[in-house]
Amino acid sequence: MRYTPISGQLFAKNRKKLAAKLKPNAIAIVHSNDNMPISADATHPFVQHSDLYYLTGIDQEESILVMYPDCRDNQVRSFKEILFIKETNKEIAIWEGKKLTKEEAEERSGIRTVIWTSHFKEVLKPLLFEAEHIYLNTNENTRDIITVETRDDRFRKWCMEQFPLHNYQRLAPLMNQLRVVKEPEEVEALKEAISITDKAFRRVLNFVKSGVWEYEIEAEIYHEFIRNRSRRMAYQPIVGSGFNACVLHYIDNENQCKDGDMLLMDFGAEYANYCADLSRTIPVNGRFTERQKAVYNAVLRVQKAAVDLLVPGNNLIDLNREVGKLMESELIGLGLLDTTDVKNQNPAQPLYKKYFMHGTSHHLGIDVHDYGKRYQVFEPGMVLTCEPGIYIREEALGIRLENDILITEEGPVDLMKNIPVEVEEIEELMHR
Ligand code: GLY
Ligand code: MN
Ligand code: MN
Repeated sequence: MRYTPISGQLFAKNRKKLAAKLKPNAIAIVHSNDNMPISADATHPFVQHSDLYYLTGIDQEESILVMYPDCRDNQVRSFKEILFIKETNKEIAIWEGKKLTKEEAEERSGIRTVIWTSHFKEVLKPLLFEAEHIYLNTNENTRDIITVETRDDRFRKWCMEQFPLHNYQRLAPLMNQLRVVKEPEEVEALKEAISITDKAFRRVLNFVKSGVWEYEIEAEIYHEFIRNRSRRMAYQPIVGSGFNACVLHYIDNENQCKDGDMLLMDFGAEYANYCADLSRTIPVNGRFTERQKAVYNAVLRVQKAAVDLLVPGNNLIDLNREVGKLMESELIGLGLLDTTDVKNQNPAQPLYKKYFMHGTSHHLGIDVHDYGKRYQVFEPGMVLTCEPGIYIREEALGIRLENDILITEEGPVDLMKNIPVEVEEIEELMHR
């Protein structure tokens, strides 16, 4: 195991919270991810489904969770919670290495009834005939552009065909309610992901100079992640110099960094399935020009003011509106917008969007764009990014600064406050 497993108590607590939200006499069924195919017999590296992980801590394919809190158990074993895992044997161990034993799966998840996945349907059927409601999992992300079927999707088709007269319920809204507020163990995992990300950024500050290639920087980041027990990038990293920094989802990272250009990097480490999400923008040659510094400090001022808005009671819509106003006045200060034009602008299409075209924040957790709804009121325990940017295509200059913030009763806690961001600090570290 590359990461230190999170205590099974977290996952037991998560299931208890879900059980409390289910209707009476209901069963919930959640599947792991597939091993995603490439072609021939090749697969992508396995990444667990965030819901299955959240409820079980199991990081293995072909795993299924069945929760039936109102199940009337027989004397022999409890079916209130069942974890199905892929059977392991000597042959599998020779080819694939170690898979979880039933004892390990019990320890990891806190679930006492662990059964091989090959017995899933025969165990499930009699339980379903007792239950009235069936909760199934669907992807309710508003930006969902996924075209492949998940195991949850395939199971849903089978289940609804086999058991057409049950009451079917959506699991996704409940998972949203639970996952949006983080438990302390989750915040700890996020902090570790952030600490690894911090190390990688400092390594990059040492490495970057005129003439390096964007992919060389990506390699430095990856090197630091892996040696610190992260298994992967939390998402495809963006390493874009010059004009590339203005391409919001630039991930080719294939150009040479030129003297005088700024370099925008957006990357984060995964740790124990939790994602860090950092953006920093630095001068390739280690010194900001006056113009670069002016734009950079405008973004930094907006970021600092926006962090202060990440407090209980606020929400994403109002946050974006406020940040839009801050951005507007900074863009006027930079000579990019005209005061009169702003006064006369169509409020539905504010002019600042020409230079700042994305939202300020998103929830962060096991998914980098984690569960959380647009109008959901901020509560203590939520973790959001704060990532304003100014992208001036005509100047081939793009700057984004992104920190990860924990909302608390006492105010926002910047989990990335130790990661260098001030102009003087960046210049100093790049010239050591
Ligand atoms: N790295 C993805 C994002 O910042 O939303
Ligand atoms: Mn982000
Ligand atoms: Mn990011």
